[in-house]
Amino acid sequence: MAAIRRRWAPEPAAGIVLGTGLHPLAARVAVEAELDYAALPHFPRSTVAGHAGRLLCGTLCGRRVLVMEGRLHRYEGWSMAEVTYPIRVMRALGCELLVVSNASGGLNPAFAAGDVMVIEDHLNLFFDSPLFGINDDALGPRFPDMSAPYDRELVAAALAAARRLGCTAHQGVYAGFTGPSFETRAEYRMLRRLGADAVGMSTVPEVIAARHGGMRVLGLSVITNLCRPDCLAATGHEAVLAAAAGASRGMTRIVESVLAGLAD
Ligand code: HPA
Repeated sequence: MAAIRRRWAPEPAAGIVLGTGLHPLAARVAVEAELDYAALPHFPRSTVAGHAGRLLCGTLCGRRVLVMEGRLHRYEGWSMAEVTYPIRVMRALGCELLVVSNASGGLNPAFAAGDVMVIEDHLNLFFDSPLFGINDDALGPRFPDMSAPYDRELVAAALAAARRLGCTAHQGVYAGFTGPSFETRAEYRMLRRLGADAVGMSTVPEVIAARHGGMRVLGLSVITNLCRPDCLAATGHEAVLAAAAGASRGMTRIVESVLAGLAD
């Protein structure tokens, strides 16, 4: 925290995690300081193609923001505590809002590749939690409420923004699965039956840590591939990156619109 404060003194309002698909948002930030994760004590390094590993400090739509350009995943070998360490730092620096984005596979048959899903709820299928272990009461309660982890007002604001912008956006349940292998047909079938609309390899850990710390959360997912268990096409990281890049403009504008509309 002190390492960031030394380079950038303002109190941020929001932390933003740029998953696959939201990187163009980084270019919209008026950057005042840029810090490599490697230069920040205890920050894990990003090891995945398409995840830069930089923390941007600056202003977006008139709000002070901290932007993680490059997210950390459980499958990289980081523990849940390590994956969520930057969220704890964002909270300690003053962020009251967390915006998380990701790329995901679409399980809901109404979804098309390139659509956006505003996350309304999640399934934690990591069977692990950043809250395992002795609770630090200074960070949050032992048993945090999870009745509405994704802020209902922000879900509504994001859907309204998408409608205004002419961008197809659904509302749905995100299943967080460990990866890094994509799911089998049997797993996609299971996930759909469990109530998931989309599946990805991230987001759930960060949201649990953010809710533990009392942050409001907005989660957006770009559907990069369709998970049709009975006629499944092969998926690869390059295809996911390409599809996410195509949808990033809509997602970027939704985030900007929600930030611009936040009450002071
Ligand atoms: N499964 C898991 N993660 C993903 C997928 C998927 O089908 N697509 C993009 N991220």
